[in-house]
Formats: sequence, structure tokens, C-alpha cells
Amino acid sequence: MNTAITFTIDGTTCTAETGMYVIGAAQKNGIYIPSLCNMDGVAPRGSCRVCTVRINGKLMAACTTPVSEGMKIENDTEELRDLRSQIIETLFVEGNHFCPSCEKSGNCELQALAYRFKIMVPRYPYRFPVREIDASNPKLIKDHNRCILCKRCVRAIKTKDGKNLFAFKNRGHKLAIIIDPSLASSITDELAERASKVCPVGALIKKETGFAQPIGSRTYDRSPIGSTVELAATSPNAKETAL
Ligand code: FES
Repeated sequence: MNTAITFTIDGTTCTAETGMYVIGAAQKNGIYIPSLCNMDGVAPRGSCRVCTVRINGKLMAACTTPVSEGMKIENDTEELRDLRSQIIETLFVEGNHFCPSCEKSGNCELQALAYRFKIMVPRYPYRFPVREIDASNPKLIKDHNRCILCKRCVRAIKTKDGKNLFAFKNRGHKLAIIIDPSLASSITDELAERASKVCPVGALIKKETGFAQPIGSRTYDRSPIGSTVELAATSPNAKETAL
């Protein structure tokens, strides 16, 4: 049975139920913890570390750590903002992210986080790796230049009979997402659409949808990433849960 617990985030007293992860418990209290590989409704993986917080003095991933009674969580500190910026900058230099020509621009979580953290020029040199764009599937374009290996597609996209459509191949710097060749030809429009939405960047794009939603009207064109969670904190209902 879930029981109510009390904890603090940056000194603010919050409440949640046992069994929740720190990231969800924070959200319930109107506090945004940045994340990339995490997604509501999908088992957490803890691979990107953008959600790193200090819990009772230790650096931990908020998406895979269950919240517990009396936890003291640090989230919005200079140290953690810089740590998260470093991770985001690393992702930018590690791949080839050309935002102005990307169909996901405005809906891309990596781009939105870069804006949130006011990243202008990464502190690391660009690698400009040579990577493939695979347009062989009739429904999906797979652009390895933009893939951040978050595994959201692997975890979230299943066929009707529960089979994984995506998987990883290779190891180390050659690690890449593949589509199961035995299922590739059976991808429906619906599945392609979902894969495109689950991908936080522009690595999976449904074919024949190019710029259907005009630039300027997209999710993060309208409001910065995390702002809906933070706005909830200022609503009377959120205050009730946070005190
Ligand atoms: Fe927690 Fe990626 S969102 S590790």
C-alpha cells in the first residue's frame, strides 16, 4: 500500500506517495527536474543523467531513484545547472545537430534544454562524426546524426503482439539504433507517428510529414521546456500539495 511521505526540494517541503520516483514526485509538487531519456509511462533507464540531483549530499538520477521520507533533494543549484549544461553540450558536439534544417526543431527536447540552459556555444570541440541517414523504411527516416541513444524508442515502441520494433546494435562509439528487419516492412503509419513522437530529438521522423506544423507554433516555440510543470507550482492546487 502506498503511504504519504514528506521530503524537501531546495528547501521547499513537498509530499508524495511511496513508490514514486524523485522526478515524478517533484513534478507532482510543481517542480521541474530537467530530463531527456525519461518519459511518462515508460520504465526509466537512467542513461542520460540530465536529471541528476543531489540527494542527501550524493549525486543521483532523479528518474530512477524512488523518493523516500525525509529526503533532502537539491535540484536548482549552480553546480547542477552546470553539470546538466555539460551533458547537453556533450550531446551537441558528439553528434550532428543542425537545428535550422531539422523537422523536429521547436519540438526537440535537446534543443529546448539548450535554450533553457542558455547554451550558445558548447565548451567542447565538435566531433562532426560521419553517420548514416537511413531512409530505406517506407514509413520512417532514421537519422543517426541526431540520435542521442536515450533508448526511448526501444523501451516505448512495441508492435501489437508486444514485440520490440527497435533495438541497439554494436557497442561503444559504434552503438546505434536499428529497426528489427523482420518487422520493418510492417510498420504502420500509427506506429511511425508514435516513434517520431517518442524520440526526444529528430532521429526518427515519420515520412511525408515534413514541416506540416509551421515553425513558430511548435511545443517549445510556445512555452519553454519545463514551464508547464513550474506554472503548476504557482497554481493554488499545487500549493496545497506542496505544503
Ligand atoms: Fe534521468 Fe535521463 S532523465 S537519466
